[in-house]
Amino acid sequence: MTHGREEHLWIPESDLEGMSVDTLAVRAGQIRTGQLEHSDAIFPTSSFVYGSAAQAAARFGGEEPGNIYSRFTNPTVQAFEARIAAMEGGERAVATASGMAAILSTCMALLKSGDHVICSRGVFGTTNVLFQKYMARFGVQTTFVSLTNADEWRSAVRPETTMLFIETPSNPLCEVADVAALSAMAHENEALLVVDNCFCTPILQRPLELGADLVIHSATKYLDGQGRCVGGVVVGPEKYLNEIYGFIRSAGPSMSPFNAWVFQKGLETLPIRMRAHCDNALELAKWLESQPSVETVYYAGLESHPQHELAKTQQSGFGGMVSFALKGGREQAWRFIDSTRMISITANLGDVKTTITHPATTTHGRLSPEDKARAGITENLIRLSVGIEAIDDLKTDLERGFQALKD
Ligand SMILES: Cc1ncc(COP(=O)(O)O)c(C=O)c1O
Repeated sequence: MTHGREEHLWIPESDLEGMSVDTLAVRAGQIRTGQLEHSDAIFPTSSFVYGSAAQAAARFGGEEPGNIYSRFTNPTVQAFEARIAAMEGGERAVATASGMAAILSTCMALLKSGDHVICSRGVFGTTNVLFQKYMARFGVQTTFVSLTNADEWRSAVRPETTMLFIETPSNPLCEVADVAALSAMAHENEALLVVDNCFCTPILQRPLELGADLVIHSATKYLDGQGRCVGGVVVGPEKYLNEIYGFIRSAGPSMSPFNAWVFQKGLETLPIRMRAHCDNALELAKWLESQPSVETVYYAGLESHPQHELAKTQQSGFGGMVSFALKGGREQAWRFIDSTRMISITANLGDVKTTITHPATTTHGRLSPEDKARAGITENLIRLSVGIEAIDDLKTDLERGFQALKD
């Protein structure tokens, strides 16, 4: 009699049931080949072969399951999708070529001409452009409201509203939305609540458990964690994901197997990275708050933050993004940024390396002056994506910026 696991080349989903997100990050969704490799295999192939013409026909006809072509499915991409779906607590995930492709695919699959979307003002600048400029061309109107003002959301609802779209915490001001309240409002109006969970990741917040219908990620950020690849993913129930998959399969913004493999590896260290990001960010936010040249610090971990209590109930940590406004304007902000030496001046976020950005002239630079003002993107605002370097070294580098303001 054998007690081995010969019948399983990978761990069946049922054996991981009830396990913590930390375990799922490392173990869920691995596909093991006949070579019995321990680390995930990578399948860089555009198509798959068949034993016969009849089998090819059965695959194409949908009578036999299996891979056909990597725009449709690819084992490495499926492994990443299975892992992130397990971590978010969703039935299914579909990976995309970028975070924006995940948002676009969700809109193209689930919205139609005549629909109305309500979107929070503080979303990533390109998300705003996608709704305002491109979706409008196809007859989808969007109303932008304050992420945190329930009255604004309520009064924006129309009979044709089919989607509420939020990013929480928001980029770059770290405002926090009440996900459960917004999902109740969406459902009362037969609309969907879509949450961009990029800043928290499933380690700190699981929007589907709070009532959201779909979760979106720019995998480019924390899921990768080392700034290597661009990708995205949508997670949620089969009934919506089947539609989104159908669009991606037809339109083509699929994830490459190489990128999926990098993200799969990234997920394995996500729990410990997120804790390190949170610890550094909280310490840095407190330190920034004590600096005389700083006007305001935006971080939900600070007691001074207006949604601090909400963030404590909805999130298990406050995340790694900290923004702060300096006393002064663009000149002071640029001087500060240019005086740092170690921290990277780059627009990406969620990297183990700390990055510094001037949102008004980079990530949110394409917004009109009115939209910038409404979204709180001021010229004196600086965004830090706090990495996992030693906290004292981060302070030393930022101190160079404060010193330059004094000179
Ligand atoms: C919150 C958020 N959502 C979506 C995106 C878009 O993702 P990507 O750059 O992978 O297309 C970004 C990119 O910075 C982002 O910060």
